[in-house]
Amino acid sequence: MSSPLRIAVLASGRGSNLQALIAARDTGKLPVEFVLVGSDKAQAGALELAEAAGIPRLVLNPKAYPSRRAFDLDLFSRIEATGADLLVLAGYMRILDGEALHPWVGRMINIHPSLLPKYRGLHTHRRALEAGDAEHGASVHYVTAELDGGPVIAQARIGIEAGDHEDLLAQRLLAYEHRLLPAVVRMIAAGRLAYAAPDGVALDGERLSSPLELRGDELVR
Ligand code: GRF
Repeated sequence: MSSPLRIAVLASGRGSNLQALIAARDTGKLPVEFVLVGSDKAQAGALELAEAAGIPRLVLNPKAYPSRRAFDLDLFSRIEATGADLLVLAGYMRILDGEALHPWVGRMINIHPSLLPKYRGLHTHRRALEAGDAEHGASVHYVTAELDGGPVIAQARIGIEAGDHEDLLAQRLLAYEHRLLPAVVRMIAAGRLAYAAPDGVALDGERLSSPLELRGDELVR
C-alpha cells in the first residue's frame, strides 16, 4: 500500500473546513496524514481543533517579521520541513508573497466562497446578494501569485433563495464547502488531479475545460 498523502493546513479562523477534513479522515473517507496545522492567529479555533486531533501546530506572528516576504519564507520553509505533499489553505486570511509561494505552486490549494472568477477577495456573499445573482457557490483552486486567481479545480453551486441574507447564505454555503474540500483532497490523494501550468487543471492526465462540479459528496465533470 502506498503511504497516505501528507497534508499541511493553514487557517486563520474557526476551522470548520479543517474539521471537515479531519472528519473525512476519521471516517475512512480521506486517506491523508495531517502533518501540520499552521496559523497567523494564536487564538484561531483551527488550532484547538488540531490539538484535539493530535495534529502538530505552528503559530507564527506576522508582526515579529520585517516584511510579508520574510514571514512567508519562514512559514513555507517550516511547512516544507514537515514533508507535506499538499498545502491546504482553509480560511487562511493573509495575502501570500508571490515569490515566497512560488515553490508551492501546484502543491497548494485554497477554498474560496464564491463561484470564481466572480468575487475574488472579501465579502463574497454580500456581493453575490447585491448583484442579484440567482446562484452562489464555492471554489477550490490551485494557488498562484494572483489573489484568488489560480486555476479552479472544482465548484459547489447553490441557488440564492428569497429569504437569504449575508449570514444565512454564508451558513448554507458552508455545508457545501465541507463536502467540496474533502472531495478535492481525496482526488489529489488518489493521484488523479494535477496543476497544468500556467492556468489549467488536469484530471487523469487530461486538461479540464471547466471546473469539476460537486454532486452529493463526489466531483463530476
Ligand atoms: C470559508 O468560508 C472559506 O471558504 C473561506 O474562509 C472561510 C473559512 O471558514 N476561505 P472556516 O474557518 O473553515 O470555518
